[in-house]
Amino acid sequence: MSNTDKIKKLIDLREQARKGGGEERIEGQHSRGKLTARERINILLDEGSFEEYDMFVTHRSHDFGLENQTYLSDGVVTGHGTIDGRVIYVYAQDFTVFGGSLSETHAAKICKIMDQAMKVGAPLIGINDSGGARIQEGVKSLAGYAEIFERNILASGVIPQISAIFGPCAGGAVYSPALTDFIVMSKDTSYMFVTGPKVTKTVTGEVISTEALGGAEMHSTKSGISHFMVDDEEAGLLMIRKLISYLPQNNLEDPIQTTTSDPIDRLEDELNEIIPENPNQPYDMMDVILRVVDREEFLEVHSRYARNILVGFSKFNGMPVGIVANQPNHMAGVLDIDASRKAARFVRFCDCFNIPIVTFVDVPGFLPGSAQEFGGIIIHGAKLMFAYGEATVPKVTVTLRKSYGGAHDVMSSKQLRGDLNYAWPTAEIAVMGAKGAVEILEGRKLKEITDPEEKQAFIDEKSKAYNEKFANPYEAARYGYIDDVIEPRNTRFRIIRGLQTLATKKEMNPPKKHTNIPL
Ligand code: HXC
Repeated sequence: MSNTDKIKKLIDLREQARKGGGEERIEGQHSRGKLTARERINILLDEGSFEEYDMFVTHRSHDFGLENQTYLSDGVVTGHGTIDGRVIYVYAQDFTVFGGSLSETHAAKICKIMDQAMKVGAPLIGINDSGGARIQEGVKSLAGYAEIFERNILASGVIPQISAIFGPCAGGAVYSPALTDFIVMSKDTSYMFVTGPKVTKTVTGEVISTEALGGAEMHSTKSGISHFMVDDEEAGLLMIRKLISYLPQNNLEDPIQTTTSDPIDRLEDELNEIIPENPNQPYDMMDVILRVVDREEFLEVHSRYARNILVGFSKFNGMPVGIVANQPNHMAGVLDIDASRKAARFVRFCDCFNIPIVTFVDVPGFLPGSAQEFGGIIIHGAKLMFAYGEATVPKVTVTLRKSYGGAHDVMSSKQLRGDLNYAWPTAEIAVMGAKGAVEILEGRKLKEITDPEEKQAFIDEKSKAYNEKFANPYEAARYGYIDDVIEPRNTRFRIIRGLQTLATKKEMNPPKKHTNIPL
């Protein structure tokens, strides 16, 4: 073969690999509203930056006639490229080849780029679209999954790991995404479950559709497995690019600081009026967040799950931060099981990757009731406390209104090593609200008063006294639990100056193998 022919052969092989399972199957993929693996990678990465590995890999199976059925790349496209110039490792399963199912070699390809991502210290993005274990390969496929799982585990907290689910993801296959930091699911075209509708019906008798059992809508509202639900794949891939902009390459680097035209000392007069006079009246915490961050940009995580707490990424003077905020507009911003778990995981992510945490507090306490107690609110609330208490990144806390009881301690309080704890003059930092306090402290007296009007007048009088003493930030400030009481309109400036000062913060936890967070 002449050299020219050899080069032609290479070009032909590449062309063959790019065709995946062939035109017909590609059309099938498109007709389902889905993109091919390579189309997805092209949207995700900077133009022309993708370097593919292992294009010529084929499976080694000789069972069930597979020896006559080989496709270059073996159902997964792997390699690296850049997002905004930063190195990213990526794999995208190719549904047009054996339904994207995972063979021994398919797994080995994924493991290879996972190992390289760890060596280089670069984020890993996995695009999942697969029928699961390659049935013809049996146990070798299971071993391949476990090889990936172990790498996901070891990479956790070292490099950011993001999973997109753009098709089926079922059985044990769900555990790789579950081990990563963020899961993005496309509406109507993706699903995740451990056991599908057929097995569910056989085992439990329950009849349920694929979408209801494991669709993006369910996972972004009920289970919280999905952090982001997107209308289509392109939106999902662009969202991942945005997410990456807030993250460092690895746990030894800081997130990338950018410049902004938004002035650091921008006063927001409307914040002075945002807290309603009536303490039981809600307001939208998002209005506060958008007014203080750079250019009103906030990438909300879990926006449709446990909406009583808001978490997401933003920037202050170009510095990426993680924001955690109680949301008075939903269930009065109370902490319950789901909110505690949601925020705890987010706080731990930020701490892993050196992202400062800014917390806005307006919390009436933990949600009472048997459902919460039976569900283990004690241990789930402890997760959030643990996450904050363990975090060594800069922590700035601003208490806007209520901060009651155990929830006060949990929400990045001074004693959980909060670095800067500010309060607005409208803050109420106390063991509990006035009504509850009066009922307990004056219970004996209240029983004696039979006339309802007299009773109410007594409650009002005692509540007023209680409020005067405790429904303010100054009692906490008197003890130094609050570093300063600040004017709401000046919040942006105070947070930015705080973060600038804390940029060189060094804090270590005692040496240990690992913590034993209450799981
Ligand atoms: C081999 C597979 C496959 C698999 C699909 N294909 N899944 N090949 N192993 N697991 C092939 C099909 O034969 C078909 O090949 C092509 O992919 C597309 O599949 P269709 O069924 O035509 O597509 P669709 O109707 O869209 O259905 C997609 C699907 C279905 C829902 C994923 O294919 C399916 O149920 N597959 C089996 C899923 C499964 O049970 N997997 C094992 C789970 S156990 P042709 O040649 O016709 O294009 C598991 C354990 C993991 O994963 C454990 C980890 C610890």
